[in-house]
Amino acid sequence: MIKEIFKPNPEFAKDARIKNMCEYQELQDEAMRDYEGFWGRYAKEKLEWIEPFTNVLDESDFPFVKWFEGGKLNVSTQCIDRHLGTRKNKAAILFEGDRGDKQTITYLDLYNNVNRFANLLKNEFGVKKGDRVVIYMPMIPEAAYAMLACARIGAIHSIVFGGFSAEALRDRIHDANAKVVITADGAYRKDKPYMLKPVVDEATKGESPVEKILVVERNNEKIEWHEGRDFSYNKLIKNQSNECDAEPMDAEDPLFLLYTSGSTGKPKGVQHNQAGYILWAQMTMEWVFDVKENDTYWCTADIGWITGHTYIVYGPLAMGATTVMFEGVPTYPDAGRAWKMVQDYKVNQFYTAPTAIRVLHKMGEHEPLKYDLSSLKVLGTVGEPIDPAAWKWYYEEVGGGRCPIVDTYWQTETGGHVISPLPGATPIKPGCATLPLPGIIAEILDKDGNKKEPHETGFMCIIRPWPAMIRGIWGDKERFVKSYFGDVKQNGRGVYFTGDGANYDEDGYITITGRTDDVINVSGHRMGTAEVEAALAKEDEVAEVAVVGKPHPIKGEGIFAYVVMKHSLKDSRFESYEAIEKELNEMIKKEIGNIALCDDIVFVPGLPKTRSGKIMRRILRSIAKGEEITQDISTLEDPSIVATIKSLVK
Ligand code: WT7
Repeated sequence: MIKEIFKPNPEFAKDARIKNMCEYQELQDEAMRDYEGFWGRYAKEKLEWIEPFTNVLDESDFPFVKWFEGGKLNVSTQCIDRHLGTRKNKAAILFEGDRGDKQTITYLDLYNNVNRFANLLKNEFGVKKGDRVVIYMPMIPEAAYAMLACARIGAIHSIVFGGFSAEALRDRIHDANAKVVITADGAYRKDKPYMLKPVVDEATKGESPVEKILVVERNNEKIEWHEGRDFSYNKLIKNQSNECDAEPMDAEDPLFLLYTSGSTGKPKGVQHNQAGYILWAQMTMEWVFDVKENDTYWCTADIGWITGHTYIVYGPLAMGATTVMFEGVPTYPDAGRAWKMVQDYKVNQFYTAPTAIRVLHKMGEHEPLKYDLSSLKVLGTVGEPIDPAAWKWYYEEVGGGRCPIVDTYWQTETGGHVISPLPGATPIKPGCATLPLPGIIAEILDKDGNKKEPHETGFMCIIRPWPAMIRGIWGDKERFVKSYFGDVKQNGRGVYFTGDGANYDEDGYITITGRTDDVINVSGHRMGTAEVEAALAKEDEVAEVAVVGKPHPIKGEGIFAYVVMKHSLKDSRFESYEAIEKELNEMIKKEIGNIALCDDIVFVPGLPKTRSGKIMRRILRSIAKGEEITQDISTLEDPSIVATIKSLVK
């Protein structure tokens, strides 16, 4: 299929950091010629070192790699202190609450707030370098202060998305053995208060490593208070000094953990370290969004996901940009909220997910026309492939046909973008993440490491370690090696495999085709089918369950569950299938959170299995999609089950 090509706007390209494909190619050639020289040059240029590094890359213990060894730095200094000279009064964060309350936080304010927060953690809570701190927060400035305060004193933060349930939070607290949780009483969503602290109470009930809980009072709803364990941020912060020495951190000390779903088992604590992560956060921020000194940049993600880490907090602040932080939802009070904010803040770069684009499109086809969106220069998308209808609407109605769309492909594990257009250089093809960024050596391979031919789908791999690469899974070295370097081998060495399928065209442009493992992508959020299955299996009437993804018009993928009950309805304790469905979704809410609710639950008498007992998910996926079954089913233990299941799926 030949795709339409959109060339960069020459006016924009003139001042872009990377101005054309020749410049792109030169950078990529430099990296290929002298990989360490390339990265060493940027690490010197972009970062302020307390002590210089002595070695760029050590791969001797691959896939456990070390970047910039010998170097010492502090990430909070990168994001704050070094801007004070020239940007003291520049807005670092423009905050807008759900209900329209606004705050401008300058770089100097940020410095004061982060230092106070760091002192609080250090002096009142005894948090030390290397301690794990769980952050379970709404989208309020204190969440960013908390992250940067941890970075300042060398504590390792682990943010848990505020939509996760108490059980999910408990698992993450225990896995990281965190002794402190930072939370808020609650926050506002669609003009209504919601609560977070009670979830933390629930998650820390009984045996827990958590000694202290810091509560930011945001909505002042009544909450339970456990003397000696719970502390008010609003009270304690008043006594803290504005000065807190930044801990000199080794380049490879951990910076944060972020739990994400895998194809099997429990979520994994993806570990990112100091120097490589912050370097790539800044470089990609500069290249991909091309933010200029007086620009205002807005990413609509939540800090609970990697996009919020890298492209709301660390990336923008490392480059000294102004970043918008929004507590609410872009569709409240109406479909114009996001566009009104773009107009009011004169947003120049707007970064969101295809799901949000589809919702906004559906709610207001011509809504963007009611607002002055002329400030926009670059539009970004992330999280899942963007479909042509959403792309076209985003490009024309939102961008006025003037703004390049950077379709950024990356993952929690990559730390920052890896495949993406450069807005001033790359001719864009809709739905296509285009080319690897300079310094990223990405290829589409088969499992033996052979390069696929154009238009053949293969495994999306990254051949050489890059600075922001995942450094490990917390507490599980073996799982790290197996999860990412176990499937594809090249010359006897494991190659980093993303878990995604992809193909490239005659121009080398890469199109991501989606996950090849048992991970589904719901509204740009990653969900392991194994996790959802484990939650459903907790209901004792459930004998067996299999979960697959099914295309969904808004969410990209929806969750489709096949459930086998232990007893017939009349022998069970339920009155109707609706009641079981309700109960099962309650179970998911409790075990994971609302983000994992099932779109479809189908009760079936059995699952298609091989004679060795393996569930054939491929068949279940096809049935969920309403596709014809083309694979051979004669080897199944009971081939007739396929027709039975098909007849039960509407
Ligand atoms: C998975 C990573 C990266 C931040 C948000 C999600 C999918 C991500 C794209 C894109 C097609 C994409 C992949 C990837 N994905 N960006 N531009 N085009 N697919 O982070 O939760 O770690 O999920 O999201 O499947 O593996 P994540």
